[in-house]
Amino acid sequence: MFNTKDLQENILKLKKENDVCILAHAYQTHDILEIADFVGDSFGLSKQAASAPQSTVLMCGVRFMAETVKILSPHKKVLLSHPDAGCAMAEQLTVEELKELKQQYPNAAVVAYINTTSALKCECDVCVTSASALEIVKKLPQKEILFIPDCNLGSWIEKKVPEKTFHFINGGCPVHTRITTTDVKQAKENHPNALLLVHPECIKEVTAMADFAGSTTAIMGYVDKSDANEYIIGTDNSIVQHLQFEYPNKKFYPLSKNCVCNDMRLTTLVDVYNAVSGNGGEEIILGADVIDSARKSIDRMLSI
Ligand code: 13P
Ligand code: SF4
Repeated sequence: MFNTKDLQENILKLKKENDVCILAHAYQTHDILEIADFVGDSFGLSKQAASAPQSTVLMCGVRFMAETVKILSPHKKVLLSHPDAGCAMAEQLTVEELKELKQQYPNAAVVAYINTTSALKCECDVCVTSASALEIVKKLPQKEILFIPDCNLGSWIEKKVPEKTFHFINGGCPVHTRITTTDVKQAKENHPNALLLVHPECIKEVTAMADFAGSTTAIMGYVDKSDANEYIIGTDNSIVQHLQFEYPNKKFYPLSKNCVCNDMRLTTLVDVYNAVSGNGGEEIILGADVIDSARKSIDRMLSI
């Protein structure tokens, strides 16, 4: 039987031997982050996917992230660490529904959060991540924006870009939207000296109460630059743990015990071991037409 350290050492050896690059989303567990070549938010991972030199890329995260890697690196073998790791938000809208919305708002730029299926990416003008959305929406020439599927992230951008008109669907992340304003009041009462940092996938009433809102990496960057000693974290609770490792002299509290993405938690270190040894993970296969079409919207994001 392996212990964690043995397993990690074997993974590091095997990934070198088998020419595998391991990408880990920041919501993965700490033992996985420790053996990854690159850790980041959706935007960082998309950029890394485009430049990884290895012939195989293993995405420790959820399906839309592995699909994004495949779209950007079609000649590489791309593996998703756990075949069941999906994203409930990514599947909230169908292509048919999006086509109807496009007819309803013919002058709007269709801006798709990267947490969407590859089929939806084929139908949009540009993809965005939580880290890139604001800048991209500002720079688009269109004055009208159809933002899919997350109305909470969309509303957060809308507030910062009042010169444009936005249209939303009733979509969002079922994990972040579990956080309520009561959670905020309770956490602030329990930790009156702590700053509140949240992900903009939270409902807009929660985001409005925060000292800072941003992507997972932006939250971590904020802590790095801040002199405060205590923080309430309103995103997947793995970030509380990672921050505590990184800044042992500061204190971090979860905004809600319920903010845990079970899909992100499906991947274990054993799954990573199996995938790098060639006995696990799911290979992502996408049609050439889907890759070509979806790539335009991701390339547009990377170029803006
Ligand atoms: P970011 O990685 O862009 O911060 O998004 C968070 C998320 O929910 C990923 O699915
Ligand atoms: Fe999807 Fe939400 Fe989980 Fe992110 S946290 S993968 S948006 S369900």
